[in-house]
Amino acid sequence: MPGTTSATPKLEDLRVRLSEIQQGHLLRFADDLAPAELEALCAQIAALDLESVPALVREYVHSKPSFDPGSATIAPPPGYMRGGDWDIERFRSAGEQLLREGKVAAFTVAGGQGSRLGYDGPKGCYPGGAVTGKPLFACLADWIHSAQDRYGATVPWYIMTSPLNHEATVAFFKQHDHFGLSPDNIMFFAQGVLPSFDMATGKILLASKGTVATNPDGHGGSLRALAHSGALEDMKRRGVEHISYVQIDNPLARVVDPVFIGLHAAAPNSSGEMSTKVVAKTEPGEKVGVVCTIDGKPGVIEYSDLPEATAAQRNPDGTLTLRAGNIALHMLSRSFVERITSGDLSLPYHRAEKKVPCIDPETGQSVDPSEPNAVKLEMFVFDAIPLCRNSIVYEVERADEFAPIKNAEGNDSIESSARIQTERAASWLDARGVKVPRKSDGSSDCVLEISPRTATRPEELRPESIEPIRSGEKRAI
Ligand code: UD1
Repeated sequence: MPGTTSATPKLEDLRVRLSEIQQGHLLRFADDLAPAELEALCAQIAALDLESVPALVREYVHSKPSFDPGSATIAPPPGYMRGGDWDIERFRSAGEQLLREGKVAAFTVAGGQGSRLGYDGPKGCYPGGAVTGKPLFACLADWIHSAQDRYGATVPWYIMTSPLNHEATVAFFKQHDHFGLSPDNIMFFAQGVLPSFDMATGKILLASKGTVATNPDGHGGSLRALAHSGALEDMKRRGVEHISYVQIDNPLARVVDPVFIGLHAAAPNSSGEMSTKVVAKTEPGEKVGVVCTIDGKPGVIEYSDLPEATAAQRNPDGTLTLRAGNIALHMLSRSFVERITSGDLSLPYHRAEKKVPCIDPETGQSVDPSEPNAVKLEMFVFDAIPLCRNSIVYEVERADEFAPIKNAEGNDSIESSARIQTERAASWLDARGVKVPRKSDGSSDCVLEISPRTATRPEELRPESIEPIRSGEKRAI
């Protein structure tokens, strides 16, 4: 009987607390649960930020916050654009120096599952290499090896998982011998979760009689997770000052990029707090967030919030005025993350309407909705940019470092990523005088993959060591 379990005081306290915030239904089936199940449910509820629930329901479930730029002045951010008049080698040296001093850590957000890819497991385990088929985690690990070999210093790797894939991710690394990296220099931690809400009533959903329905709190939750997990402390102990943030889904992401690190840390107009790599938007309506300034303050406007006329503005040379498209590669200073996670600062939530299987809170019957029934809330990491004093962007060539794998087919799929990986490799080989077989439309008649352990830019390729490439060949270099 629940009344006799050791969870009793907690249970009664929780009942009162939950009824105060109109969420009493979460314990409605307490009497049906075994003591251990009830204890687990109480622990799950107690771990939620109950204090914030009424405001979340009011602001995000019963209403739909939207960003209205209104009469704000939206302008391009201070930036280091491709072909611009700035000294790339100066910033490369500054970044390389920081790497040599061991002041840079890699941080990968890998809380996502491969479900959009039709893959049942952590996204990072999905094959990403165009030729080798190596897992996305291995693609990123190669960049870390490459940096450690070049600069003779450790690049510690912090990997954020989610409660859904934490165990599987850690097991995958063990199974693959941590891709040859020292396990002492890799730290895994799970991101936080938020309750999923019934869209109509604002009640927190129950996944079962003994489990609250929750969802990962978004990649914006990574900043809080860095603090709570002890990762920031670990970085401090190691003397890490700068954090290179990459998503797991992009096998071409330069996990540590000396030029970007140097710009972030040493550019005269950088606050060194948070910087963003961008690519030039291809057209006004392209669905990427735009990094900009809003009334002089740094920020990102999601494509859905950017007024059409503003998106379409062009410079005298025909380029888009607001062309800094966010590809989710950031540099953050450790001190900035410490600052924004130590006080009351919090990132805004973004609302998504989703189908979430649950139980009926009255009857306890399972519900498998055919239409969205739930509101899930998430934080986005780029919402930290407005918290910076100022923030710079670094524009890179799209094909050089953006080949994301998000969908099973079409855009941003394994096929499109393999094509981009191949074309990038082909352009590097061309630049070094190695002939690449071509089809009549000019595309490569082969599949190519260059490991960052071999070269991180064309100049580092040794053409004399590359055998001629045949039509139709698959070649990993
Ligand atoms: C994201 C960006 C988009 C950018 C694109 C570049 C948002 C809202 N949009 O889109 O501006 O152009 O990437 O590739 O971010 N993740 C977690 N935990 C979570 C949610 C996500 O770790 O709770 C990780 C995923 O594992 C993945 C990354 O964050 O590595 C991106 O998440 P995803 O939801 O796939 O973002 P996109 O919609 O692809």
